[in-house]
Amino acid sequence: MKVETFETPQDAAKALAGEVAELIRTRAAEGRNVVLGLATGATPLPFYAELVRLHKEEGLSFANVISFNLDEYSGLDHDHPESYWYFMHTNLFNHIDMKPENINLPSGTVKGDEIAAHCAAYEQKIKDCGGIDLQILGIGRTGHIGFNEPADDFPELTHLVDLAPQTLAANARYFDEPDTMPRQAITVGLGVLMRAKRILLLLSGSGKAEITERLLCGRIVPQVPATILRLHPDVTAVIDEDALQLVRAHAPNLIP
Ligand code: F6R
Repeated sequence: MKVETFETPQDAAKALAGEVAELIRTRAAEGRNVVLGLATGATPLPFYAELVRLHKEEGLSFANVISFNLDEYSGLDHDHPESYWYFMHTNLFNHIDMKPENINLPSGTVKGDEIAAHCAAYEQKIKDCGGIDLQILGIGRTGHIGFNEPADDFPELTHLVDLAPQTLAANARYFDEPDTMPRQAITVGLGVLMRAKRILLLLSGSGKAEITERLLCGRIVPQVPATILRLHPDVTAVIDEDALQLVRAHAPNLIP
């Protein structure tokens, strides 16, 4: 895993958006699509703001972009203000020129017996589009990526997951009535992520200092799902100084 460090989340977002913009433009010049894997949460917000700025001020077109989001709460439909569909449209898709048919998120409304088929179809669609060229990831305090929570094994396939208590606690603040927060979500499996051609993992803020240390300095274990990324051939962890503080204190020679 390559590590790139930045003073602030805004600096990191600029660098990241620059890489994504270059990929989009190169592919557009070749007449080809780009498949992006996208994340929600607080961490990528400055990155999405920078993509919107590049579209509005520098003419970056997203007409050749196909996107697949990592996850969606189970039980929320599109219009729910805390659904990830709503989040992505409010923070990114409504402000750029992505074609609606190129936007993909797991459904929050499939139920019961239909869930397994929906998960398999989502993975198949990613494969049919040629796989993910560039995956953007955040990380939960549990070490989850997507909503692949700590477990005894690394979950390979897209699936319905019970959210960990720490995740419920971290995300309840976004819900007006925290009791209404779904306890489950559909998430792409780690197999989808490990097959992405390139991964950018964002870690920002002091709240992520502990998990940053476990990610970089701990063992590769399914109890910290993001550690599997250290086995991926092309992953860069993009980390700001607040998130790095414990690594700088305890293992300064492990980072640039
Ligand atoms: C979001 C996702 C999660 C978040 C993680 C961090 O689609 O899959 O893994 O990236 O929970 O969330 P924030 O950025 O809010 O700390």
